Amino acid sequence: MKRIAVFTSGGDAPGMNAAVRSVMRSASKLGLHVFRINRGYQGMIEGDIQRLENLDVKNIIHRGGTILKTARSNDFRTKEGRQQAADSLMSFDIEGVIAIGGNGTFTGAKIFHEEHHIPFIGVPGTIDNDLYGTDFTIGFDTAINTAIDAIDKIRDTADSHNRLFFIEVMGRHSGFIGLYTGLGSGSSGILIPEKAHDTEALINVLKKGIKRKKLFSLVVVAEGDESGGAMKIAERVKKEFPQYETKVTIIGHLQRGGSPTCMDRILASRLGHAAVKALISGETNKMVGQINNKIKLTPFEDCISKENRPSKDLLELAEILALG
Ligand code: F6P
Repeated sequence: MKRIAVFTSGGDAPGMNAAVRSVMRSASKLGLHVFRINRGYQGMIEGDIQRLENLDVKNIIHRGGTILKTARSNDFRTKEGRQQAADSLMSFDIEGVIAIGGNGTFTGAKIFHEEHHIPFIGVPGTIDNDLYGTDFTIGFDTAINTAIDAIDKIRDTADSHNRLFFIEVMGRHSGFIGLYTGLGSGSSGILIPEKAHDTEALINVLKKGIKRKKLFSLVVVAEGDESGGAMKIAERVKKEFPQYETKVTIIGHLQRGGSPTCMDRILASRLGHAAVKALISGETNKMVGQINNKIKLTPFEDCISKENRPSKDLLELAEILALG
């Protein structure tokens, strides 16, 4: 294998640039030519492909976002779109591809590989941490630290004004960000998709807090929680708490940007390097991940069909520590 390509796809995640840098440097050490595919699968379809050089990846390890840009491509969902993408790769004589992204990215890669047999290796890059086959995804650590920073600031003002705050964090289908930031911020309630929603239980915990003369409270809500998000749950419970002014903050896309934490940079560097090694040793249709500090390969099939769920221990701990 002499010519490989790399792209980022789906929602961006801090650390994707560090992964691209690691792919470039590791591949160049092995004498490979690296091509950049811009804007994910859409760029692959449109032939938006250029040589990537070592110089292009200097000064990017600390930058959030992705220098390769990203997109969610509807055209790639069609057979014709995937045929065009294969034609583009062939016109550049690309023999293997490294895809940095999440669930949707690997679903696309698996179908594409079945149809066109071009070797693909995945690198888990998503703030949601919802991929089976790795303990943590690139971007998660940065996202939770960004969110914690925001929640700590809300805590200050909630305390000063005696308010009840509902804070919505990202995670359309996954509660990792909600659980970690809820636990890390000492919030009284954590509402996430992996836990059955119980409005009464939440009201009881908050009331217990009031009995204990608690003057403010924070509740973290994942955007994908069945309560319907922070706005809805705040609307539903606020009449129960006339002593508090109830406020809602949606942290939103702030969580997706910013300079990656050191942990994300190291994870991205390790996984980018592992992806190159896997590709040249003939592996395909697999994602590189880090499990118990060891690099592991997991078939796309499993990454897509199995779930990474928050551990029972952490869920229980959240219940115990949320005294209200
Ligand atoms: O997949 C990461 C993620 O940030 C989710 O947590 C969120 O629901 C979604 O992407 C938002 O996507 P978009 O930026 O396309 O609105």
